[in-house]
Amino acid sequence: MAQVPAIEVSGLKKKYGDIQAVDGTSFSVDEGEVFSLLGPNGAGKTTTIEILEGLRNKDSGTAKVLGLDPWESGYELHKRIGVIPQGFKFLDYPTPREALSYYGALFGRKVDPDELLRRVILDDASNVWFQNLSGGQKQKLGMALSLVNDPQVVFLDEPTTGLDPQARRAVWEVVRKLKDEGRTVMLTTHYLEEAEELADRVAIMKHGKIVAMGTTAEIESKFGSGQRMVVKGGDDLLKYLRESTRLHAEGGAGSITIFLRDKSDAMVALGAIEESGAAWEDLTVRRDSLEDVFLKLVGEGGSIEKGVE
Ligand SMILES: Nc1ncnc2c1ncn2[C@@H]1O[C@H](COP(=O)(O)OP(=O)(O)O)[C@@H](O)[C@H]1O
Ligand SMILES: [Mg+2]
Repeated sequence: MAQVPAIEVSGLKKKYGDIQAVDGTSFSVDEGEVFSLLGPNGAGKTTTIEILEGLRNKDSGTAKVLGLDPWESGYELHKRIGVIPQGFKFLDYPTPREALSYYGALFGRKVDPDELLRRVILDDASNVWFQNLSGGQKQKLGMALSLVNDPQVVFLDEPTTGLDPQARRAVWEVVRKLKDEGRTVMLTTHYLEEAEELADRVAIMKHGKIVAMGTTAEIESKFGSGQRMVVKGGDDLLKYLRESTRLHAEGGAGSITIFLRDKSDAMVALGAIEESGAAWEDLTVRRDSLEDVFLKLVGEGGSIEKGVE
């Protein structure tokens, strides 16, 4: 039996007034996959996820979750998906244990609040009023609430925005557990590391369009430049490399970059540097990281944040 993708989006569009928030995006997410939409503020991540959750209607294109149209079949779908909105908030006074019992009753599900709290690693704060929970604990409660109906697909919209690095890592741990339990997770983030750390596949979104998609390794190799050797050295070294080899070398400000097409280029470059007799130091070989690729695709002004370590 052919497996139906957990999420299927094709040519999806949504406009608010003059703003084309989602501009013809297509992607599909397999069951059990963690898929991340990564992009700066305003890229169209929340709009996409809200259409998939059935909270917003699309203008055109196709959106399917578990084979259902979220707008047409919201009632049925909401029994099978977990949703935590961006900037999740709750009433001030219930404790996590009370909130979970309440949600369970709401969904007509028999839940064991303590078991759910253990699953999101919040059992240490089961009796603390919501208003007194830390940012990370609030997010974990949001995740526990989204699990009340034992969802097949969980949507997390920027679950760690504004959290400190330690709290962020705690949330990551819970996301990994969701994956281990076989659930499909769609996660939006503007933190590069978060997508790198959690997602099986990433789609980079900018101005409503997906500009790159794949595993991080695939994105790096497709959009990154190849390997290059960087060495500190002067114009004499650059001149020697250009005249005595067929390598492509560029230089400036005491640093020379040699673009390597294959391993033999690397050997030629090393040999030539040594033979040149010129002064050199600090030789490194590098390729574009996911971060380099992001900055290229999204632009320096794209407000892609690197998590604070
Ligand atoms: N309800 C709305 N009304 C008008 N414009 C909106 C609304 N929601 C989002 N937008 C605009 O649509 C674009 C995409 O927003 P959003 O989907 O929230 O992106 P992201 O989640 O990636 O930050 C932005 O330019 C935003 O200002
Ligand atoms: Mg958003």
